[in-house]
Amino acid sequence: MTSELSSSWADFDLPIPPPQPVSSLLTNYSSPINVLAPLVRCGKLPFRHLCSLYETHVTYTPMILAQEFSRSQSARMADFTSSRDERGVFWVENRTGEGIGQGVEVKVGSVVRPMIYGHPEDFPNGQPDLSHLNLDDPSEVRADSDSPPIAPYKTYYTPPPHTRLPPTFLPPTRHSTLIRGSLIAQFASPNPGCLADAAELVAPYVDGLDLNCGCPQRWAYNEGIGCALLRKPELVRDMVRAVKGRLGWGWPVSVKIRVDPDLKLTDQLVRSAISAGVSHITIHGRTRHQASTEPISLPAIRFAVESARGEVPCVGNGSVWNVQDAENMRAETGVRGVMGARGLLANPALFAGYDRTPKHAVEQFVSLSVDYGLIFPLFHRHLAYMLESHYHRSERIYFNGLTSSVAAIDHLVSRGIDLPARHTEPIWDARRGRTMLK
Ligand SMILES: Cc1cc2nc3c(=O)[nH]c(=O)nc-3n(C[C@H](O)[C@H](O)[C@H](O)COP(=O)(O)O)c2cc1C
Repeated sequence: MTSELSSSWADFDLPIPPPQPVSSLLTNYSSPINVLAPLVRCGKLPFRHLCSLYETHVTYTPMILAQEFSRSQSARMADFTSSRDERGVFWVENRTGEGIGQGVEVKVGSVVRPMIYGHPEDFPNGQPDLSHLNLDDPSEVRADSDSPPIAPYKTYYTPPPHTRLPPTFLPPTRHSTLIRGSLIAQFASPNPGCLADAAELVAPYVDGLDLNCGCPQRWAYNEGIGCALLRKPELVRDMVRAVKGRLGWGWPVSVKIRVDPDLKLTDQLVRSAISAGVSHITIHGRTRHQASTEPISLPAIRFAVESARGEVPCVGNGSVWNVQDAENMRAETGVRGVMGARGLLANPALFAGYDRTPKHAVEQFVSLSVDYGLIFPLFHRHLAYMLESHYHRSERIYFNGLTSSVAAIDHLVSRGIDLPARHTEPIWDARRGRTMLK
């Protein structure tokens, strides 16, 4: 039986999941959608790829300064690297009967598939022209490399081909659908033109752009970025529109905000962002002046979700340390997605249900970091976060004192991390999109 499975695994012709905007992922499926937060310095390619192996459907780049990015090639090289394999491939459950957002659905036989998306203004009559398609023939609307998904809006977006496979080739239930994860580039800018320039440069490599309206640091505030935008809804609106004006109305632009102590101002910001055409909103349940050690306010997140009135889906953020926290946030606030930051740094397999970093995640991280390249201070810092709950104080002090990647890897091997071993778990193989299952 095993060999039968493994031969069909190797040749199995899974449908290639179509790229979808995050708003569609958030609205079209009943499965929880999980998100890796933007993390300055930490959210680089190897760590994003690692999280996407463990049920993290959407990943964000760290915040990038739009002006530097559009002006300087060296800033672009330093701030953004990606790989066609970094997005995950996941089984999710179809939502029946519901579905909002900006997607336009195509009916194939009795199955409704969210294949075509864009702002209604992109379609001449408010609807895409489907007259050339035979909708009874699923192959007509299948999004694969031979028949790419229809892009009714002007777009600079060329979704990269992917070679990843899901952890299992068998759908977990009859209603499961295969989806491809998304990568969002987060930018900080006080200027619509600069943001549109940066968006145009990054657009071919990502699935959407996010505007940072939550960075609380003083230097950022003084530059007019991050939290400085929380009380400037008109500027946020202009920046969102500038990007959409450049890339087309269907191009997904989102915002990540903090709640305001005066919730009327949060309402204004949310309404203004929606009127500008944002595709989804992420709400961090702390105010600008609250440190990350303070508890988040679920009622404030709920308030922001209610301000959105279901017109766009929302993602909640703040103090998600395990799947129960994520479930609780969904239940208490009505968010469709949950974003983890420090919780994922401590345990990148959090959303896959692990209560602390499993050994195979450490092995994957080392392997990904070696393959992609990651400077020692970051490599070291990530390992220190991941191993914190495994080590006693004296071991932590010893590990933190190591000064090279070789020393860190040697130490891990001495602690039983098995780098050269043959890994047979499909999740390991998902990284390269092929299996070594025996
Ligand atoms: C190391 C680190 C870097 C961060 N960088 C960013 C960033 O680039 N952009 C952003 O919007 N938020 C950033 N944040 C904030 C997180 O995205 C998140 O909103 C915050 O940590 C709250 O989530 P948590 O309680 O799960 O940690 C950062 C947080 C940390 C800890």
